[in-house]
Amino acid sequence: VAVARQAAAAARDLGELREAMAAFEFCDLRLGARNLVFADGNPRARVMVIGEAPGRDEDIQGKPFVGRAGQLLDRMFAAIGMGRAMSDGARADGARAIYITNVLPWRPPQNRDPKPDEVAMLLPFVQRHVELASPDILVLMGNISCNALLGRKGITRLRGQWAEVLGRPALPMFHPAYLLRNPHAKREAWHDLLMLQARLRELA
Ligand code: URA
Repeated sequence: VAVARQAAAAARDLGELREAMAAFEFCDLRLGARNLVFADGNPRARVMVIGEAPGRDEDIQGKPFVGRAGQLLDRMFAAIGMGRAMSDGARADGARAIYITNVLPWRPPQNRDPKPDEVAMLLPFVQRHVELASPDILVLMGNISCNALLGRKGITRLRGQWAEVLGRPALPMFHPAYLLRNPHAKREAWHDLLMLQARLRELA
């Protein structure tokens, strides 16, 4: 982990961080993955979304959240007028862009849950990613993301309540893959999206 921390800290911008991750040899997940999945969307966005790990589609395309869960994620943000394709550079007033990444940049074999030591090893990179992108607000999608960044488990209790990560407001939400399996929980997700929207207006 010390090696990861050093490599992450040495990155001075997002390009260097990506290179540092691509060169990082101390996580076996990379051996089973086709692509490093770094991020998508607008790195200057006010909102940074952090998911769990790439799945099959993401591994093939090298982009986060492009499969079924990703399509739902796009629809969720579109419902509050936001999206990854929006490149309005002015972050201060009503920037509607989002920036998306994951706790893990490589797909775990057969989409198994990441192991705690894998998460711990790669955490310095996500944390540095947050510092460099410097969003106003973080959205933590699902248990793995909450556990990694907040050190807390239990998304059902955590969701919809503001927390703090690296000095920024962070909102835990249900993961869209969970919502696909439990469509009734979309009600809570909608509530959380409106909370996010209200907070953005307050901060604007
Ligand atoms: N699920 C995630 O958590 N991240 C992705 O990129 C895709 C699915």
